[in-house]
Amino acid sequence: MDKQDNNGYVPGLKGIPAAESKISFLDGQAGLLTYRGYPIVELAQQSTFEEAAWVLINGELPNTDELTRFASDLRANRRVKYNVRDIMKFLPIDGDPMEALQTCVASLGMFYPGQERMTANGVNADSEFVEQMIIKILASMATLVAMWERIRRGDDPILPRTDLTYAENFLYMMNEREPDPVEARIMDACLVLHAEHTINASTFAALVCGSTLAPPNLVVASAIGTLAGPLHGGANQRVLNMLDDIGSVENVAGWLDQRLANKQVIWGFGHREYKVKDPRANILQDLLEQLREHRHGQISPLYERAKELERCAEEHLSPKGIFPNVDFYSGLLYEALGIPRDQFTPIFAISRTAGWLAHWKEQITHNRIFRPTQVYTGYEPRSYRPMSLR
Ligand code: ACO
Repeated sequence: MDKQDNNGYVPGLKGIPAAESKISFLDGQAGLLTYRGYPIVELAQQSTFEEAAWVLINGELPNTDELTRFASDLRANRRVKYNVRDIMKFLPIDGDPMEALQTCVASLGMFYPGQERMTANGVNADSEFVEQMIIKILASMATLVAMWERIRRGDDPILPRTDLTYAENFLYMMNEREPDPVEARIMDACLVLHAEHTINASTFAALVCGSTLAPPNLVVASAIGTLAGPLHGGANQRVLNMLDDIGSVENVAGWLDQRLANKQVIWGFGHREYKVKDPRANILQDLLEQLREHRHGQISPLYERAKELERCAEEHLSPKGIFPNVDFYSGLLYEALGIPRDQFTPIFAISRTAGWLAHWKEQITHNRIFRPTQVYTGYEPRSYRPMSLR
C-alpha cells in the first residue's frame, strides 16, 4: 500500500475499497478476471458481446428467450435522432473523437428524458426506465462512434442495420462494406474483453456521478471523460505511436534502455492491479495470431516490434510486476481491422458502457451519495486584505 499519513489519506486511493460489487472480480497475482464469476477467457472464446453485456447487467447467463429479446432490443435501438447527427456536424472535424462521443452521449438524455423516474436509494425506482435507458445508451454507442468517423471524413453516416450482430454492425457502419466474418468475430471478442474491469478510474467516475442520481447518459458521459486520459483508456493509440517511433525490431533494445534511463513510461505496460501479464493481453495476442493466419501471415510489422519490446521489457520491468496490459496489443488489432488510431479509445468506451451501466444499475438499488473527506493542507483562517493594502 502507498504511503499513508495519520489521517488515512492514500494517494490514488490505492487499495481502498470504494464500493461493494458482485459484477466482476480480478486476481492480479493469478491473472484472473471474471464477469459474474465467468472467466474472461471462456467468455471471449465462447460468448458474444450481447451475451456478456447481459451477464454483466443482469447477473446470470441468459436463456434463449432472454438473449434473443435483449439482442433484438439492442438492434431496434441502434438509430439515434437526426438532431444528434446535426450536433456532430457542428463539431470541428479534427477534434478528438472521445470529446465528440462524450458530447453526443451527454445529449441523449435530452432526447430520452425520464430522470425523475429514479428515486433515492432505489425505492420505487422505475425499473422500466432503467432497462430502457440501458438498451438505448448501449445500442447508441457504436452508432455514435461510427457516425463521427463518417462525418469527420465528410461522408453522410450510414444507417445501422438490424440484421447484423453488434460487432458486425459496428464494422459495417465504420467501413461501409459487408463485414468479414473472422474480423467481426475478432471485434466481438475485443468488445467482450473490454466490457468490464472492476472499479477502475472510469467506473469510479460513473459511480460518483450515478450516486447523485444523475441520468444514466451523464453517468456514461462522466466515465467517457475519465477513460479518455492516456493513463487509462487512451494508452493503446500511444502504444502504436511508440512502436512507430522505435522504427525497427533491431532498435527495440536500445530504445527501451534510453526510455527507462529517462524515466519515461512504456505505454501499454503496468497496471495498478495486475502483477503478471494482463489476461486480456494474452487473449488479444491470440486474436492477433488468428488474424495473421486468416491473412496468410500478413499483419503489421509493428507486431514484431511489440513482441520484441515485450521480450526486452521483461528483464527490466518484471521485477517490479510491470507487464503488458490490455492496451498493449489491442491497438495493433484495431489498426489491422482498419480502424484509425484515435478511434481506439472510443471503441473501448463502446464496450465498457456495458460495465458502466451494470455498475449504475447495481448501485442505484442501494445508493448513497459519494462524499469523501479531504486532508486540508492550506492556510489557517486569515483576514481578507483590500486591494489597496496588498
Ligand atoms: N513503464 C515504465 N515504468 C512503469 C510503468 C510503465 N508503463 N508502469 C509503472 N512503472 C513503474 C513506475 O515508474 C514505478 O516505478 P518506481 O517504483 O521505481 O517509482 C512502479 O512501476 C510503480 O508504478 P506506479 O506508477 O506507482 O503504478 P500505478 O499503479 O500508480 O500506475 C499505471 C498504473 C498508471 C497503469 C502505470 O503502470 C502506467 O502509467 N502505465 C502506462 C500507461 C498505460 O498503459 N495505461 C493503461 C493501463 S490499462 C487501462 O487503464 C485500461
